[in-house]
Amino acid sequence: MFKFKTILAALVGAMALVAPATAAEPGGPLVPKQSWTFAGPFGTYDENQLQRGFQVYREVCASCHGMRLIAFRNLSEPGGPRFSEAQVRALAAEYQIVDPAAEGGVRPGVPADRFPTPFANEQEARDANGGAYPPDFSVIAKARGIYEPFPNWAFNYFTGYSEGGPDYIHALLMGYREPPEGIELQPGQYYNDYFPGHLISMAPPLQDGLVTYEGEGVPETLDQYATDLSAFLMWTAEPHLVARKEAGFRVITFLILFAGLLYFVKNKLWANVKHRNPSPDDVERDARA
Ligand code: HEC
Repeated sequence: MFKFKTILAALVGAMALVAPATAAEPGGPLVPKQSWTFAGPFGTYDENQLQRGFQVYREVCASCHGMRLIAFRNLSEPGGPRFSEAQVRALAAEYQIVDPAAEGGVRPGVPADRFPTPFANEQEARDANGGAYPPDFSVIAKARGIYEPFPNWAFNYFTGYSEGGPDYIHALLMGYREPPEGIELQPGQYYNDYFPGHLISMAPPLQDGLVTYEGEGVPETLDQYATDLSAFLMWTAEPHLVARKEAGFRVITFLILFAGLLYFVKNKLWANVKHRNPSPDDVERDARA
């Protein structure tokens, strides 16, 4: 018994030591996990952070990456960046929307329109990017994740970890560096620690001071931009996260109360039914019957 306990303790200790280790792919460097406001069963989005993330997207990434499943009006919905309706209307009007019904084929956007894509089609996007395709951002935070060796992923069942997408995007934006000895970059290729295969055809899109945030107090650093943008992309991929978590909480609370109720009902229903182990007399009687 003593031996078993020692082994168990050693195992748990060893697992705890390696717990935070995650990577973008097997054998790759570890993706550092960030602390997100939307993590955990009660996590919610930080509206200001989503607004900043949208600003970074619009000013830097939108020239290559579309967001075709997101409509302007989504930006003012509950649980999201909560821009005012007037802001959304003004923002939409800055875009030209292709509309065959309009005079001249284009018209200014309205809140119901979706974000226009930067390229007409995939081929045009590839031609503009040296053959590589900048993926659409609508659900990219759900389409990417991180690789975790055993036993780390097993912990996720208990911690409810589901932020692999934003953790990966954050790491990717921070992960550019000089290639190690012996690796030749083709023109238009860059070395990134976290991109699967490491050779990415996207130039480092962000650097310190690139985007000017309104107001004081938020650092204008690469790390901050990457964090805000990753949070924003989590929202575009899962805009109803907060409502979903609230519904989950209500359902679980109901189930716990209901289980208690069922327990008392069961006690009441069976209160007058006698049950005991059969005595030798009973056994004899049953055998005769
Ligand atoms: C000049 C065009 C351009 C801009 C601007 C740009 N990207 Fe990209 N991005 C690309 C291309 C091209 C790829 C595909 C790279 C590849 O497949 O090698 C890509 C790929 C990506 C990917 C997917 C990586 C993967 O795992 O497949 C992410 C995430 C990404 N970009 C984020 C961003 C963010 C965030 C910004 C803005 C801060 C941004 N990009 C700005 C061109 C761009």
